[in-house]
Amino acid sequence: MKPKIIFRKATISDAVKIKKTIDAYAEEGIMLFRPLYEIYGSIRDFFIVEKGKKVIGCCALHVLGEEYRPGRQGSILAEVRSLAVLKKEHGKGIGTQLVKACINEAEAMEIDKLFTLTTKKNVAFFKKIGFKEISTAKLPQKIWQECINCSRFPADCNEVSLIKDI
Ligand SMILES: CC(C)(COP(=O)(O)OP(=O)(O)OC[C@H]1O[C@@H](n2cnc3c(N)ncnc32)[C@H](O)[C@@H]1OP(=O)(O)O)[C@@H](O)C(=O)NCCC(=O)NCCS
Repeated sequence: MKPKIIFRKATISDAVKIKKTIDAYAEEGIMLFRPLYEIYGSIRDFFIVEKGKKVIGCCALHVLGEEYRPGRQGSILAEVRSLAVLKKEHGKGIGTQLVKACINEAEAMEIDKLFTLTTKKNVAFFKKIGFKEISTAKLPQKIWQECINCSRFPADCNEVSLIKDI
């Protein structure tokens, strides 16, 4: 019998499996390594996909807060981050469903805009889900707070910013 595929919010016992899923791509320089303490600290951000007892995909919705717009109210921004699907499970719609789960949760939380930082290779994937490319200069500076952990920052940065209104 084929193992069941389940999409759900992560729990504490998923943290180590989430780290392994991300590490597989971080070792290739495609994603940033996430320390385990940080995954525990943001465990409520994560959705996972489980196949049998294995985690085969993960994605996080991380709330950043209000954009600073002098003299007027700014939009509430959140980030779709730590999206990873195991290579042998690619092309089955799992990545799309994970991002859609984040979109649905963002809607329920009354978030105005979702953004993501990704590589050129993934731009088409996010555009299919309704994200649009945006100049990074138009996003608040705090979105770059994690960039200092990236070996490519700043001269060799290969990230593209995409945004979606909710
Ligand atoms: C990006 C990623 C999560 C996509 O996961 P996936 O489960 O294969 O995606 P889906 O099956 O939902 O793909 C949906 C569609 O996008 C396409 N697609 C998937 N990845 C793509 C990519 N990198 N570039 C262009 N198109 C892509 C698929 O072919 C599919 O097209 P279709 O609807 O016409 O069949 C996966 O490739 C991955 O884990 N990549 C490595 C980690 C990474 O880059 N994470 C993003 C960090 S922001």
